[in-house]
Amino acid sequence: MPQQTYKTTDPALEDYAAAHSTPESELLHRLYRETSLKSMYPNMLSGHLQGQFLRMISQMLHPKRILEIGTFTGYGTINLAMGLADGGKIHTIDSNAEMVEIGRPYFDAAGLQDKIVTHIGNATEILKKIDKSFDLVFIDADKENYLTYYQMLIGELPQGAVVLADNVLWYGKVLDATHADEETKGILRFNEFVLQDERVENMIVPIRDGLMIVRKK
Ligand SMILES: C[S@@+](CC[C@H](N)C(=O)[O-])C[C@H]1O[C@@H](n2cnc3c(N)ncnc32)[C@H](O)[C@@H]1O
Repeated sequence: MPQQTYKTTDPALEDYAAAHSTPESELLHRLYRETSLKSMYPNMLSGHLQGQFLRMISQMLHPKRILEIGTFTGYGTINLAMGLADGGKIHTIDSNAEMVEIGRPYFDAAGLQDKIVTHIGNATEILKKIDKSFDLVFIDADKENYLTYYQMLIGELPQGAVVLADNVLWYGKVLDATHADEETKGILRFNEFVLQDERVENMIVPIRDGLMIVRKK
């Protein structure tokens, strides 16, 4: 199947939205630049608009415990950590230690080193071992396992907890279920399951590649 290239928003409108949102900090811009130079897939990084969105959600919820599945170079991690309540921590998981090491000096420079707990390894294995009572979760790793992560977590989260999941429109591929590859099938399974899950309410925000917001009732 050819790669679909739907844009959920007109690029000119996205530029306008970015220009009229709180500017990216100098530190996050440096992290973005370094990721672009050192990673083969720099577009995996959340970026200015989505990073600002994550930070605002975190600041509004003021969570004590955050989980991120898919650290990459820590751009989302830093934004999420900025909303933590006093004494709070963000646990972030990635199987690629090399990418996480790019982010670590930025955690320190942002003064967040004591608030960020990094776990290196396969997310399913790490989730089996940690306390899963998180107030805010950001799922942003392998698409095939979105539903696995959700099912491992949702029963353990407190009432009012919020789960965010990135790429739920998957570059428009969700519109063609008949030719779906494994990643697209993973996203479709996740989207369908959440929709019929009576424990939660949800919506898909069509920014960037689609961001699912789930709130546990
Ligand atoms: C899209 S990037 C995460 C971007 C990051 N959250 C941000 O906001 O900039 C996805 C990351 O998930 C990691 N990943 C993929 N499959 C994984 C798995 N099974 N367990 C742990 N990490 C995984 C990849 O190594 C990659 O760094």
